[in-house]
Amino acid sequence: MAKKPYDRPLIRRHVVGQAPKFGLATSIKVLRDVDGIKVEDLMAQYGSPLFVISEKALRSAHERLARAMGFYFPDVVLAWSYKTNWLRSVCAIFHQEGSWAEVVSEFEYEKARSLGVPGDRIIFNGPYKPREALARAFSEGAQVNLDSLDEMYLAEEVAEELGLRPKVGLRISLAAGAYPIWYRFGFNYESGEAMEAAERITRRGRLVISGLHCHMGTFVLDPWCFTEQSRKLAALTRALEKRLDIELDYLNFGGGFASKNTLVHQYLPGETVSPPFEEYAAALAEGMKALDRKPTGMPRIILETGRALVDEAGYLMTSVVAVKRMPAGLRAVIVDAGVNLLYTAFWYRHEVFPAREVEGDIEEAVIYGPLCMNIDVVRESVMLPTLRPGDPLVIWPVGAYNMTQWLQFIRLRPGVVLITPEGETELIRMPDVMDDLLSREPVSARLGLRGAE
Ligand SMILES: Cc1ncc(COP(=O)(O)O)c(C=O)c1O
Repeated sequence: MAKKPYDRPLIRRHVVGQAPKFGLATSIKVLRDVDGIKVEDLMAQYGSPLFVISEKALRSAHERLARAMGFYFPDVVLAWSYKTNWLRSVCAIFHQEGSWAEVVSEFEYEKARSLGVPGDRIIFNGPYKPREALARAFSEGAQVNLDSLDEMYLAEEVAEELGLRPKVGLRISLAAGAYPIWYRFGFNYESGEAMEAAERITRRGRLVISGLHCHMGTFVLDPWCFTEQSRKLAALTRALEKRLDIELDYLNFGGGFASKNTLVHQYLPGETVSPPFEEYAAALAEGMKALDRKPTGMPRIILETGRALVDEAGYLMTSVVAVKRMPAGLRAVIVDAGVNLLYTAFWYRHEVFPAREVEGDIEEAVIYGPLCMNIDVVRESVMLPTLRPGDPLVIWPVGAYNMTQWLQFIRLRPGVVLITPEGETELIRMPDVMDDLLSREPVSARLGLRGAE
């Protein structure tokens, strides 16, 4: 008979009133598989750590959002926000579902074109669009949303050089109840700056204003903010029509819908409080009543939803490398995936599930990553059973903003596997290899190691 592992007895001090009103966890959810594929099999085949993405979840989220918006608006375009997750297969799946591309740099623009997205299905945002990037975007018919007057001057010069009179959108900043207010992007609505910019562009005659864009923030939990946002954009649309005789082709409400993640200081879990797409769509429609148009006279409605489409589709599989006890008694679990892969751990309390049944006491623990950095904390406090080196864990939801913001730092980045609707696995991003790094860093012969043969 195999020898049973020894579990040190645990003496836990009970402090009255310490537990939240839901009590402390007495059982732990185990996440054994993703779309029917066993986590342990995935890790055995592709290594640890490993990102895994569910294609089914991506397609289903896209379909739900398109349906919710289509209920209220006759002409809706979803534009996939590349920076949220620009792995080419993820973008390709959303493009197959009908999404355009929303990009904020030449690099992202190039990625979209490399997937065959035509220029006139690319929306180009961001505060910095270099001259050559604007020239390419105008020549290929992309939808450029201007961020500042300096960008407007540059766009006019480029248009002149090309002999074009391109359509442009104005990015608008506004207060709609979401904090902090992102005043730094675009032209402000409340101060009158947006109207002034529109007047100036129209007077100069080199560019044609064809739309308004407003991405007011991210993870906006209160749908009412979208009512306020759309009400203000509708009011500005009417003012532009009346004062400047401008007829807009589109209103772009940016992104900002919350995923099912949980903010670090949020009391209730995201799974229970993040609104469904239907509530956001209804909120936008409510504000759009201020436009006072029949559905047939509505401009095209564009959404650049990012995290709410991709977050839940992404999982990070990781292995316990060590367990120890902190001087004050807290158990610490060290895993092989750190904040270099999980940038969002600074803002969100991701769920952490064992991937197989683990026996032993359930206890509060801190989860540290493998980096030699004090900030490498995956979870400050989470209830976990007694874990041992080698135990597999799954961190979820992690599909948004991690696979684009990850750093190789002191560890090479892992691969990403897609689970297809048919239950196959596809490696959609190869793990880094040492040669990737070495080949980018030439060392001149002058710096050869002294004394080495
Ligand atoms: C212009 C723009 N559109 C869309 C998005 C996607 O936002 P979210 O992931 O909050 O939906 C972003 C992200 O910051 C953005 O900057």
